[in-house]
Amino acid sequence: MGGRTLAIILAAGQGTRMRSKLPKVMHPVGGLAMVEHVLAAAREAGVDDTALVVAPGATWPDAVLARNAGASAFTQEAQNGTADAVLAARGAFEGPDVGAVVVLFGDNPLITGGTIARVLGAVADGADVAVLGFETAEPYGYGRILRDGDGQVVAIREEKDATDEERLVTLCNSGVMAIRAGAPLQGLDEIGNDNAKGEFYLTDIVAIGRENGWRMVCQEADFAEVMGVNDRAQLAVAEAEFQRRARARVMEGATLQAPETVFFSYDTVIGDDVTIEPNVVFGLGVSVGDGCRVKAFTHLENTRLESDVMVGPFARSRGGASLASGVRIGNFVELKNAQLEAGAKVSHLTYLGDASVGAGANIGAGTITCNYDGANKHRTEIGAGAFIGSNSALVAPVVIGDHAFVGSGSVITDDVPADALAIARGRQATKPGRSPAKREKA
Ligand code: UD1
Ligand code: CA
Repeated sequence: MGGRTLAIILAAGQGTRMRSKLPKVMHPVGGLAMVEHVLAAAREAGVDDTALVVAPGATWPDAVLARNAGASAFTQEAQNGTADAVLAARGAFEGPDVGAVVVLFGDNPLITGGTIARVLGAVADGADVAVLGFETAEPYGYGRILRDGDGQVVAIREEKDATDEERLVTLCNSGVMAIRAGAPLQGLDEIGNDNAKGEFYLTDIVAIGRENGWRMVCQEADFAEVMGVNDRAQLAVAEAEFQRRARARVMEGATLQAPETVFFSYDTVIGDDVTIEPNVVFGLGVSVGDGCRVKAFTHLENTRLESDVMVGPFARSRGGASLASGVRIGNFVELKNAQLEAGAKVSHLTYLGDASVGAGANIGAGTITCNYDGANKHRTEIGAGAFIGSNSALVAPVVIGDHAFVGSGSVITDDVPADALAIARGRQATKPGRSPAKREKA
């Protein structure tokens, strides 16, 4: 097989069983739309081009194409079956330079690049058609792959068209299929719709191949990899499998004390010698450097931890936060778009929003940056080595200089120069002996 390889991702289905305003293939698994998992797998398999087949009027492909260079979209005018859907992308494969096409489904988020490469590899090794099957004890609803004694595929029979005997077959069609360019790909035009559903079935390419003496083989994959998501219960199964894989990958170099309680996103990056305690959630855009410890019940999103950072328990960080080496974040601390330099400490009960904190600064319990005035967000800048006393409110925009000291309970509205001491609170009044009289009155 010479020439370019093309992946065609079928995604024109209505996905009505999701009962959602969001198109089915845009539902996320590990924070990434299902169809983008398939695009990523195709890329990993080394396919040269990708074509999405979508329903008329679909608007979701714009954003997906913008994020996936090299992909294009084709509209299938009416949902007349999987063969008709592949033919909708005719413009992508009729050029002279395409050597093979691999058909994928947009609602198969767990397919891996390795499996796609294996199916394409069978065509590279001389097959005209290579189908991907899976074994299951519950084959109901799937097309059955029928083989002869030599392992050649002789037919794929849809549930509704199968005989009782064929329904006993447990080798099922995943839907993934690689087809060599030339006669096999041209064979798609010969597929008819004389079947129970009156649709043009891609699987009927096998019957045409049989008449023409093509080489047709079957590769197998685990069901977990080829499962389709049709409803939200299956979406949850796919998410669980995604998390299982993510945990296994992370545990190659990091300790998860209770892996099944830790949740990752598709783009989470975890360094070596990291320890993650139970009940931690990694939202989108998190990277954790070597030697960090993420303590229990911590929620991170859009946050970068450099090396040897300690966060939590019960910490939340989001909105473009960055924590340099050796930073310590304790319990009930929320960070939003806060940049902390090396060794800064925020140990308890604090909100830092739109703030920068210099190296080695110490932020006392109950410190709040008042970053929002009801209309706009403002920044708070805290210098290196500064000390903010407990229960202080820093009313932004405000700058606290290097090594400045803010007395506890202060409401700081004016900048504090470097090395200055600022106290902004009511003075204490102490009246000797007045307590008994007060008690009597009560
Ligand atoms: C298909 C296979 C079946 C296989 C099963 C695996 C055929 C004829 N049957 O059956 O052998 O066991 O998948 O899940 O291929 N689509 C379009 N346009 C269409 C029709 C479908 O884009 O006109 C897309 C759907 O959005 C979906 C995929 O193709 O992503 C599969 O279509 P679906 O109708 O669900 O096929 P099945 O009946 O499940
Ligand atoms: Ca289906």
